[in-house]
Amino acid sequence: MSASGSSYSDRFRVLIRSLTGISLPQSKVVMIEQRLRRRVMAFDLPDTEAYLEQLLDGQGMEEELRIVIDLITTNTTSFFRESEHFDFLAREALPQRLAAAKGTRRPRFKLWSAAASEGAEAFTSAMVLAEAQRRGLQFDFAVLGTDISQRMLERGAEAVYAADQLSTVPPDLVKRYFMSSRHPSVAGKVRVVPELRRHVRFRHLNLMDETYPVDRDVDLIFLRNILIYFDQGDQERVVQRLASHVATGGYLVVGHAESMVVRLAGLKQIRPTIFQKV
Ligand SMILES: C[S@@+](CC[C@H](N)C(=O)[O-])C[C@H]1O[C@@H](n2cnc3c(N)ncnc32)[C@H](O)[C@@H]1O
Repeated sequence: MSASGSSYSDRFRVLIRSLTGISLPQSKVVMIEQRLRRRVMAFDLPDTEAYLEQLLDGQGMEEELRIVIDLITTNTTSFFRESEHFDFLAREALPQRLAAAKGTRRPRFKLWSAAASEGAEAFTSAMVLAEAQRRGLQFDFAVLGTDISQRMLERGAEAVYAADQLSTVPPDLVKRYFMSSRHPSVAGKVRVVPELRRHVRFRHLNLMDETYPVDRDVDLIFLRNILIYFDQGDQERVVQRLASHVATGGYLVVGHAESMVVRLAGLKQIRPTIFQKV
């Protein structure tokens, strides 16, 4: 880092915060700078500070900002992560929401994975819902996955994963919902079957935006392992905005490290990490 490192890193943190809401701790700035080094070289610039100048200048840098967002976001995810949430979906949320929709000829269950990363949460939800249909429940479902990272959204839409990412998926579900090919170009890869993919859409959405172009009668929103990156004010605003998209009687589910964050009149805590809109 250059002599004016601290002011540079402060400006960098402000830029990231304004773009993503992510509060980068000082300790992470060095790591991020290392990740950005390749971009500095790509532009043939002397150092990260010069690169940042260019970014802040903004002219024609939209694509570059997207790359920076991809580089700084933590996209860790997995199928059936925090699996009790999917038990809750199958055993409680779905039957209760369908009971509430009694009288509708074929109710439609809407689920939103609001920090979807590459789609494992969205496709796990879709598998759980498809399994409920197989058991004879009469309903349709739609899963929306949103994220700030275009790269992750592209992966989600492609729905191709490394075969070893399926270690947490029960074998019968692997058989039913993933396909592989003998073609050498896709060795070690699997793809979600089209019958499941057709229920799942991915769309770009920044949770820091003032409004979200999403339906306001969502049955269950997953907002997991994302609030931890935001400061308290942003956490509260994001929860409030998302809550306004949950149907009355529907659910907001956060990650295990995040339950303390949700304190909102109108959301009743029914498990440490699960909140119901009343
Ligand atoms: C750690 S992953 C969590 C993935 C999944 N929810 C899970 O629990 O497995 C966090 C995701 O949040 C996304 N993210 C970060 N800031 C965001 C923002 N302001 N708006 C939307 N998504 C954001 C990141 O790109 C990343 O894919």
